Amino acid sequence: MKIAVLPGDGIGTEIVAEAVKVLNALDLQFEMETALVGGAAYEAYGHPLPPATLKLAKEADAVLFGAVGDWKYDMLERPLRPEQAILGLRKNLGLFANFRPAICYPELVASSSLKPELVAGLDILIIRELTGDIYFGQPRGRRVATDGHFPGTDEAFDTMRYSRPEIERIAHIAFQAARKRSKRVTSVDKANVLETFQFWRDVVTHVGLEYPDVALDHMYVDNAAMQLVRAPKTFDVLVTGNLFGDILSDEASMLTGSIGMLPSASLNASQQGLYEPSHGSAPDIAGKGIANPLATILSAAMMLRFSLTQETAAQRIESAVKSVLAQGLRTQDLASKGTTPVGTVAMGDAVVRALNSQR
Ligand code: IPM
Ligand code: MG
Repeated sequence: MKIAVLPGDGIGTEIVAEAVKVLNALDLQFEMETALVGGAAYEAYGHPLPPATLKLAKEADAVLFGAVGDWKYDMLERPLRPEQAILGLRKNLGLFANFRPAICYPELVASSSLKPELVAGLDILIIRELTGDIYFGQPRGRRVATDGHFPGTDEAFDTMRYSRPEIERIAHIAFQAARKRSKRVTSVDKANVLETFQFWRDVVTHVGLEYPDVALDHMYVDNAAMQLVRAPKTFDVLVTGNLFGDILSDEASMLTGSIGMLPSASLNASQQGLYEPSHGSAPDIAGKGIANPLATILSAAMMLRFSLTQETAAQRIESAVKSVLAQGLRTQDLASKGTTPVGTVAMGDAVVRALNSQR
């Protein structure tokens, strides 16, 4: 089991170290190799995704990824910015299927910004298409406008596009995932305005005919954003495009108490995957030892499940996380007023202790 470990920037190094610690506490043999990515790789090699890092990722069974980005790179030209590393990995490894579960642990109900009764027992799965849409659509760029409201002035443009096979494969992923859950898929689009998403709706509907046992409904993205905070438990599996999925998954993360709790998996057609917390590099708290490592630790559990076929180990990690939460341990993002939060390392250590006491 070969794992490429790419901690990245900001809190990335701190949280990935805890996930590696947890993996090493299992009775499994991993071959782990670490490489620089993002701003850290730019500093060392002048590129956020150096060829050696990409090669390591391609040859691994799975990639354990931290986070990339820092404000100090905002002035770099776009191809050199840290974010290009994650976009490049998604593209080069063909990681089109992004799983972002949003689960509200009973112990964290009070940490959510929503009323407890709205989020208690929440368990939804956002499936985001990850290699298409306006993120990668060509053409894009800047030019002098020849038409529109202000011809002759500077403008910028991107292209939103999806091909039939791209929509079909992510739709199949969503229906298959729903079969293992409560058999409901909500496809989120903007079919009332966008040609791309009318097509999305048509193709998803067509794929849905192959899954008569799964209930499919369609929802406009603005309504979905509202329903997620009005009645989040009415959802089971949401499937959507790259841009809408980016936004809705951040929104959904807050239902669970903290974005510091949300793992994610990005898979290609051969189950090779990249596993990362849904949150970013949080440069404001980097190096302080206070970041929540649980999203990354839970991402490592997803990695064991999806790419390394180690379901038992995945469940062990997930139950260890539940038990540290039940013990009352909270990092600063989860701690309620008046309680003392634990740091990143202490939280990782507690998960290891919980693992060890399972035996
Ligand atoms: C995410 C992030 C990325 C995205 C950025 C860092 C490029 O926000 O994984 O959700 O927009 O996909
Ligand atoms: Mg995002």
